[in-house]
Amino acid sequence: MAQALLFPLIESGLLAEPSVRAVVASDASAQRLCQQRPGLAVGVDAAAAWSCEAVLLAVKPQQLEALAASAPAPTGQEPPLLISVLAGVTVARLQRLFPGWRIVRAVPNTPCLVRAGLTGLAWGEGVSAPQQAWVQQLFAQVGEVLLLPESQLDAFLALTSSGPAFVALVAEALADGAVAAGLPRLQAHHLAQRTLAGTAALLQEQQLHPAQLKDMVSSPGGTTIAGLRALESGGVRAALIEAVLAAAERSRQLG
Ligand SMILES: NC(=O)c1ccc[n+]([C@@H]2O[C@H](COP(=O)([O-])OP(=O)(O)OC[C@H]3O[C@@H](n4cnc5c(N)ncnc54)[C@H](OP(=O)(O)O)[C@@H]3O)[C@@H](O)[C@H]2O)c1
Repeated sequence: MAQALLFPLIESGLLAEPSVRAVVASDASAQRLCQQRPGLAVGVDAAAAWSCEAVLLAVKPQQLEALAASAPAPTGQEPPLLISVLAGVTVARLQRLFPGWRIVRAVPNTPCLVRAGLTGLAWGEGVSAPQQAWVQQLFAQVGEVLLLPESQLDAFLALTSSGPAFVALVAEALADGAVAAGLPRLQAHHLAQRTLAGTAALLQEQQLHPAQLKDMVSSPGGTTIAGLRALESGGVRAALIEAVLAAAERSRQLG
């Protein structure tokens, strides 16, 4: 996730590569990163990050406590920024773990990799207006940015961060269906992906409610309504609702 955010920021020129310090845990990851971006300063010592004006924290939630223990209290006049993308970890907990830092809780998603992302942001205490503007500008490089009450971030994550996996599963299943109906595998995957992308574009560009689009495609006694009937008897709608609820609940547990 750190790479998905950082690389576009460097490529857009918003961050100068020489001003960035990348820290990972293992030598193997450091080596891989050096090969990928020879101009980037990469290391395994977190001290290199703690002295920066802003830190993007993108470890797993389970790795947070050990890492926080290595962070010194900031000494400069302007408190540094800690931008956390950790699923579920609240601003209050980050403020306890990193006293003296200004906290931003960010929920980005993997389509940020292709600059089609969504990021939800919630501010901790004392994040100044220029810091807020800078953080919004950073995440705007990789997609749309939304300012949300922190209480909504778990639901936001469940839909937007876990959602790509749910949609990918739907794409895979649709392709399996097309193979079962006689199409070659590669073509089925291509067509499933184009169908999802085209549907998303149509919903967005014509500002359609999903039910309107469904009804537009379903002629009486036709093929689509036959398929929709199979989806309803398979409980697909309920399963997707439960998937988003389960992801939101898991986000709260991780925090
Ligand atoms: N994936 C998503 O769609 C998504 C969306 C929103 C938020 N998030 C959040 O983003 C975070 C990262 O997820 P991810 O999938 O990118 O995880 P990941 O691939 O495991 O990346 C975690 C990185 O943290 C490094 N790290 C671990 N402990 C460290 C330490 N003590 N010092 C320095 N570096 C350390 C790891 O280094 P090594 O490579 O050397 O192990 C690794 O590079 C998670 O908290 C997740 O909840 C993810």
